[in-house]
Amino acid sequence: MSDPHTHRVIPLQDLRPSALTLPDAALRDDLRISANGLLADQRGRPLRDLRISVTDRCNFRCNYCMPKEIFDKDYAYLPHSALLSFEEITRLTRQFIAHGVQKIRLTGGEPLLRKHLERLVEQLAALRTLDGKPLDLTLTTNGSLLTRKAQALKDAGLQRITVSLDALDNAVFRRMNDVDFPVADVLAGIEAARAAGLGPIKINMVVKRGTNEQQILPMARYFRGSGMVLRFIEYMDVGATNGWRMDEVLPSADVIRLLQSELPLVALEPTQPGETAQRWGYADAQGRRHDPSLGEIGVISSVTQAFCSDCNRARLSTEGQLYLCLFAEKGYDLRHLLRGEASDADLINAIGHIWQGRRDNYSQQRQLMGPDTGPAVKRVEMSYIGG
Ligand code: GTP
Ligand code: 5AD
Ligand code: SF4
Ligand code: SF4
Repeated sequence: MSDPHTHRVIPLQDLRPSALTLPDAALRDDLRISANGLLADQRGRPLRDLRISVTDRCNFRCNYCMPKEIFDKDYAYLPHSALLSFEEITRLTRQFIAHGVQKIRLTGGEPLLRKHLERLVEQLAALRTLDGKPLDLTLTTNGSLLTRKAQALKDAGLQRITVSLDALDNAVFRRMNDVDFPVADVLAGIEAARAAGLGPIKINMVVKRGTNEQQILPMARYFRGSGMVLRFIEYMDVGATNGWRMDEVLPSADVIRLLQSELPLVALEPTQPGETAQRWGYADAQGRRHDPSLGEIGVISSVTQAFCSDCNRARLSTEGQLYLCLFAEKGYDLRHLLRGEASDADLINAIGHIWQGRRDNYSQQRQLMGPDTGPAVKRVEMSYIGG
């Protein structure tokens, strides 16, 4: 067998940097942080949302996420032994819940590529929040395997699902996933999820100027009145490989203007603090009030209108590193603790101290840096820590 390390385009350490060291206090008995859901970071933000990446692999090669030139056949994905087991993930999730986490999102890569994922879902679905409620348990997928998996996921206790879909036009979709995957199969997957009762279903569309902006209106027409929530995402400068340029970002304000020209919208209030999307409802015939039967859309404006000020999201990488921001360069190695001597109380303490030290607000900072600033450092890839 050839050694993947001799062929690689980008050295492994550039994409998966060594872990940050834990804060000194993290394992000390005299500096224990109590786990009561009141934990706050340096900017007063609580910990509510944990995103868990279950694989760094994907069967798509979306150019903005896993460009083919880099994620080619020689790319060194994580070996199976490096991945957290389902038991390890569930144990850690319990410690996060002790600090107030209420929502779990499984991500990838493509999470449905992880074998027997429904077993993990089953374990997570059995957990309860600090107030004794079930978790908001959801998953982000490209939809390619949903026709096969939707029912099993529902049966295992998954509540809802978010499907990434960048175009309805087959030619545009095939070009964007870059593996020639037909859009009809994803639409069938969405239907399977709906039939299984995995709702409310959200559809995430990354908008790239010059690539799929002509798909905005067809997508809106298709999902309006369907009960599904379509969200338009500004193309972000995440990772270090997608060659991001500001002129390929279509600001959400332009998306809203375009939609309004044909499908009148009214602004809606946020449902939860720290939400990624700004909500808009389709208006009734008079164009003034929200008509709930037509549903709503969302815009996620990470580039033009940062939402860091109440960001309550932590990310756990496939190999058990804790990232405090989607744009972080490094994570904290929790696997090392898990596979060492750490007790549950030690893990709770470590997570508490790490979160307490958090200052990250990358999107806000990049807005201050100005519109033409590209990535300055080798940041972690989205396929590794998940969206
Ligand atoms: P819901 O609970 O269903 O509303 O999910 P969500 O919007 O919190 O999560 P989702 O994974 O659907 O997020 C949609 C997209 O928003 C992701 O694919 C990312 O592109 C972007 N996003 C999510 N979280 C963050 C974040 O913390 N920071 C930034 N900058 N972008 C984010
Ligand atoms: N910009 C915005 N969103 C992205 N995603 C991946 N890469 C990017 C990027 N560069 C999002 C996609 C997908 C999810 C897994 O991550 O929306 O739905
Ligand atoms: Fe795969 Fe999603 Fe990344 Fe596309 S955006 S390459 S589907 S992980
Ligand atoms: Fe949160 Fe970082 Fe995204 Fe800001 S850029 S919203 S801090 S993950």
